[in-house]
Parts: sequence; structure tokens; C-alpha cells
Amino acid sequence: MEPVPEIPRPVVYLFASAAPPALQLLDVVRRAQGRGWDVVVGLTPTARDWLESRVTELEELTGHPVKTTYRRPGQPDVLPPADAVLFAPATFNSVNSLAAGITSSWVVGCTAEAPGKGIPVVVMPCVNSALVQHPQFDRSVEVLREARMQVLYGAGGFVPNRPGERLSYPWERAFAAVERVLEAVLEG
Ligand SMILES: Cc1cc2nc3c(=O)[nH]c(=O)nc-3n(C[C@H](O)[C@H](O)[C@H](O)COP(=O)(O)O)c2cc1C
Repeated sequence: MEPVPEIPRPVVYLFASAAPPALQLLDVVRRAQGRGWDVVVGLTPTARDWLESRVTELEELTGHPVKTTYRRPGQPDVLPPADAVLFAPATFNSVNSLAAGITSSWVVGCTAEAPGKGIPVVVMPCVNSALVQHPQFDRSVEVLREARMQVLYGAGGFVPNRPGERLSYPWERAFAAVERVLEAVLEG
């Protein structure tokens, strides 16, 4: 009997920075895998510190290393190439770093270059209503959109919570946006 060819799963890079929804990442990865995606997790250094005790589980679950730092020159890239990048939750710091092109963190650098490689990017911030009053935030969101990244902020995306208030993070909106960009990629 002919072997059944494996249908390749779309590779989604799921990048998280240090805001509380990052603590849900194991469950979020399972839900993303349930959509048929091959999920690769990347963490900012602070998010990695928060999730240190779960990194092994995340690696077992995804079958890929959880990446935080750039590889050394000459070291091979062991990750499969991305079909889409989802940066969620994206902190005030990460949104502004990405907009300013400050790529000292690997997840920010990888996201910054993705549109230039034709890889679609979805960013969903997680910021409170006090931080968003800083004039840089709106400017950064505008820059990211100008850079052809889809920013799920405001109606239909993440709506800022009051400082200290814990609202549920709209992961399903982020998944739906990734699903749409993947469909567009597959349709060519
Ligand atoms: C308990 C806790 C909750 C936080 N929640 C947020 C948040 O929702 N949004 C945010 O922008 N920063 C939040 N921060 C601050 C970020 O963790 C901090 O700015 C960090 O430097 C972000 O770094 P990163 O973007 O490299 O992950 C929180 C910090 C703590 C300790």
C-alpha cells in the first residue's frame, strides 16, 4: 500500500512577552495545536523568567525548543520556517521596542523582519488604560500597521483594562486573525 503523505501543518510562531496572559501559554498552545498548527514558542527574557518552570513542558508539547536568545554565529537554526507570527501578549515595552526597531530581544527581532520576508504578523497588545495614555503607544501601533503588521487593538481586538483589573484576554480573536492570514498565504 502507498504510504499516505503527511499534510504539512502551518507553522505558527507564538511569541509572548511578560504580561499575565503569558502564564496561560500551555493551555493556549494546546488550543492553537487544536487548530492544526505546528506551534513554535518564543519568549522575551522576562516572560521566560516568569515561565521558567514550564519551559520543559512547553518544549515537550510543541516538539521545538522554546527560544529566547539569538543563536551564536555558525550555530544552525533548528526551527522550521514560520508561516505566520502571532505576538501575544505584547507588552507596552515590546510594542514600543518593535515599533522603534530595538531588536535586542530575539522575539522582537524575528517579528521585526517577518513582513520583509513575506511572513504575516499579528500583534495583540496587553496594556492597561493608564499606559496607553503615553503618547508613544498610539504612535507605535501606527508604525506597526505601517510596517504591514496586523495589530489587534481596540474594537475587535484587545481593549485596555484599568490598572490592576484582570479581564480575560481575547485569545480567540488572535487565533481567528491568524487563521485568516494563513488562509490568505495558502491561497497565494
Ligand atoms: C504582575 C505583573 C503584571 C504586568 N502586566 C503587564 C501588562 O499587562 N502589560 C504591560 O505592558 N506590562 C506589564 N508588566 C510589566 C512588564 O512585565 C515589564 O514592562 C517587562 O519589562 C516587559 O518586558 P518584555 O516586553 O520584554 O516582556 C507587568 C509586570 C508584572 C510584574
